[in-house]
Amino acid sequence: MMDDLFAPPAGDEPHAERLAAGTVLLHGMAAPLAATLLDDIRAIAAQAPFRHMVTPGGYRMGVATTSCGELGWVSDPHGYRYSRLDPGSGQPWPAMPDSWRQLAGDAAARAGFAGFVADACLINRYEPGCKLSLHQDKDERDFSAPIVSVSLGLPAVFELGGLKRSERCARLTLRHGDILVWGGPDRLRYHGVLPLAGGEHPLLGACRINLTFRRAG
Ligand code: SIN
Ligand code: FE2
Repeated sequence: MMDDLFAPPAGDEPHAERLAAGTVLLHGMAAPLAATLLDDIRAIAAQAPFRHMVTPGGYRMGVATTSCGELGWVSDPHGYRYSRLDPGSGQPWPAMPDSWRQLAGDAAARAGFAGFVADACLINRYEPGCKLSLHQDKDERDFSAPIVSVSLGLPAVFELGGLKRSERCARLTLRHGDILVWGGPDRLRYHGVLPLAGGEHPLLGACRINLTFRRAG
């Protein structure tokens, strides 16, 4: 298994780089699907528009978010949680496309987490200057499932910390089509995104979109 991960890419298999015991970067794995993912994102955002949520501390997030799947991630002055309904519309979140669930399951399996079935996908949109402060993903009900994160558009510098906020962070660049999976012993690692540098991506323009797939409920 480990040998496979370190082997050079064969055929059209994405190159898998193991960064820690439970953290794998699948270089470019989503790139062939990017145009379809973008069409799907447009359709989802037509139903559940991107919005800037307010944190429990009263801070308006710079990153714009929406969700699809049975559960969507929401933040407001009462806290962070998952909700079956989009608070913007009072309606259920748009369905998660089957091809998305499949992609997330395939990526998780390649990273060593077989049987991952996402029930929530948080869609984050970054414009130049937007960042995501160091945090843990811990609003999910159980932590046995990994997080599967798909990057599209402009590259971002991702900070991968430890299980304590004070631990030093490694920095890695997430590029268009990369999928980062973290789970098992790394599931509760702190992570964040540095302010997005400007630029122009051929498909997305001056923007980065990140999809994070979770087993939330
Ligand atoms: C997140 O932590 O929810 C998103 C990470 C990213 O944008 O790469
Ligand atoms: Fe996160």
